[in-house]
Amino acid sequence: MILGFIGTGKISYSIITGICNSKIKIEKILVSPRNRTLSQKLSKKFKQVRIAKNNEEIVDKSNWIFLAVTPTVGQKIISKLRFKTKQTIISLISTITLPDLKKMIKVKANIIRAIPLPPIALKKGPIPIYPPNKKIKAFFDQIGSTIEIKNEKLSKNFWSISGMMASYYEILNVMSNWLVKKGIKRLDAQKYLTTLFLALSEDAVANSKKQLKLLVKESQTPKGLNEQGLKEMRKKKVFKSITDTLNVVNKRLNR
Ligand SMILES: NC(=O)c1ccc[n+]([C@@H]2O[C@H](COP(=O)([O-])OP(=O)(O)OC[C@H]3O[C@@H](n4cnc5c(N)ncnc54)[C@H](OP(=O)(O)O)[C@@H]3O)[C@@H](O)[C@H]2O)c1
Repeated sequence: MILGFIGTGKISYSIITGICNSKIKIEKILVSPRNRTLSQKLSKKFKQVRIAKNNEEIVDKSNWIFLAVTPTVGQKIISKLRFKTKQTIISLISTITLPDLKKMIKVKANIIRAIPLPPIALKKGPIPIYPPNKKIKAFFDQIGSTIEIKNEKLSKNFWSISGMMASYYEILNVMSNWLVKKGIKRLDAQKYLTTLFLALSEDAVANSKKQLKLLVKESQTPKGLNEQGLKEMRKKKVFKSITDTLNVVNKRLNR
């Protein structure tokens, strides 16, 4: 099978890295020359990757085509590409809906929307897909955990959550800066924070069949530091602001 990537940016780079470090059997991966630095890096690193002349060559020669450009670029280029009925098109574009993709693609190809995130490079993380599709699920399950979603409106809620990634890293960054200001070496601060939050996340995954609020409860000692921290953040409406932020992002996705 030949995979093609239109747009060689952050997310394509991550997916291709995940694929090339997995057991997925592919003949070739064609990437677009843009971004130049990333496409060259990928073709040097992995023998399966070849830089195509242009987007047309990718569409011409690939069985599965990943659309990994920004929505603005997507609006400009997708309708000019000549897809074939037997192709599978996986759109990673956040704000172009399935009905709009169908209009732009014109032929009755198999079109799937997917939401992989950069840790896919480590073969980790969730990949919501819409509509459900066995082949795409089996593929993504080798580089992460696929979640099949039956309705596009529901899938937009996952897109909203995916918009919290940078904020999560910013929380780590703020705490790391705080430790540094208190005199801890930057690398020690970062090592402490990343290992702590990895351990907490692993514990949350291990307990993910229970209600998460139990973890909130169990991690507080009466009158302890965590109880104080949580109360303080509730008083400052930090958690309300998370819900408000999700609602604002969600509104944009449902415009
Ligand atoms: N990053 C994520 O975590 C993530 C996760 C899920 C979905 N997505 C979605 O995936 C898409 C890409 O995101 P990204 O973060 O990878 O963005 P990005 O890093 O900006 O990558 C987009 C790439 O598209 C290239 N490009 C621009 N015009 C092009 C054209 N006409 N033909 C081919 N390539 C062209 C750009 O190249 P130049 O640099 O040369 O302009 C750029 O490298 C977006 O729609 C985003 O919503 C991203």
